[in-house]
Amino acid sequence: MNDSEKRTLITEIIRQQGVLKDLLHHEQKVFADLAKRLWAQQETEKARLSRELHDGVGQLLTGLTRRLQTMAHSDPAVSELAEIAGLALADVRQLSRLMSPTILDDLGLKPALNWLCRNLFEHEAINYTCDVDVGPDLPKDISILIFRVTQESLVNSIKHAQPKQVTVTVKQSFNLVKLSLIDDGQGFSRDKITPGVGLASMEDRAKAFNAELKIHSSPEHGTRILLTIPL
Ligand SMILES: Nc1ncnc2c1ncn2[C@@H]1O[C@H](COP(=O)(O)OP(=O)(O)OP(=O)(O)O)[C@@H](O)[C@H]1O
Ligand SMILES: [Mg+2]
Repeated sequence: MNDSEKRTLITEIIRQQGVLKDLLHHEQKVFADLAKRLWAQQETEKARLSRELHDGVGQLLTGLTRRLQTMAHSDPAVSELAEIAGLALADVRQLSRLMSPTILDDLGLKPALNWLCRNLFEHEAINYTCDVDVGPDLPKDISILIFRVTQESLVNSIKHAQPKQVTVTVKQSFNLVKLSLIDDGQGFSRDKITPGVGLASMEDRAKAFNAELKIHSSPEHGTRILLTIPL
C-alpha cells in the first residue's frame, strides 16, 4: 500500500469513527427519551392510583369514621373504634398524597419538599433542614425528578441510617440545579449492601436527565447524595 492509499484509508477510518459516534449519541438520546417517557407514564399511573385510593377507600373510611363518631358518646368501645378508623383514614390520605403529591403541581417544588420533610419526619426523633432556592421557571419533569430522588433518599435515611440530622438543599444557578441530601447516620458500603430498587432507580432517573449522581457513604461520615441536573 503506498502513502496515498494509506492516507485515504486513515481518512476513511476517521470518517467511519465519526459516523459511529453520531449513531451512538443518537441511540443514547433515544434511550434517555424512552426512560423519561417511562417515568412520566409511571407518574401518571401513580396519580391514578392515588385518586382511586382517595376516592375509594378514603371516602369509605371517612363515612365510617363519621358514623362511629356520632355513636361514640354512648359507648367507650365505639369511641375507640372511631379513633382507629380515624387513624386508618389518616394513613390512607398520607399514602395517597405521597403517591402523587398534587402540592407539587399546585404550589411548586419548595412547598412540596417542605411538606415531604414535615410528613416523613413527623414521628421521628431526627432534626432536619430543608433549604430550597429555585426559580418559578423550573420544568415540571425536573421538579418531579428532584422530588422523587429526595423522597427515596429521605426514606432510606429513616429506614437504614438512624441519623440525628438530615439536610436537604436545592440550589438553582442559570444552567444547573443542584440537590444535596446529607444524613449523619451509620452509612454503608456499596459492595456490602443488598441491592434494592431505590438507589438503582435514582441512578436510572438521573441518567435519563443527563444528570450527575454522586453517592458518598461511609460509617463515620453518614451518607451524601449529590445530584447535578443540567437545565
Ligand atoms: N442513607 C443510608 N444510610 C445507610 N444505609 C443506606 C442508606 N441508603 C441506602 N442504604 C443501604 O443501601 C441498601 C440499598 O438501598 P435501596 O434504597 O436501593 O434499597 P432498600 O431501601 O433496601 O429497598 P427499596 O427497594 O424499598 O428502596 C439499603 O438496604 C441499605 O442497606
Ligand atoms: Mg430504599
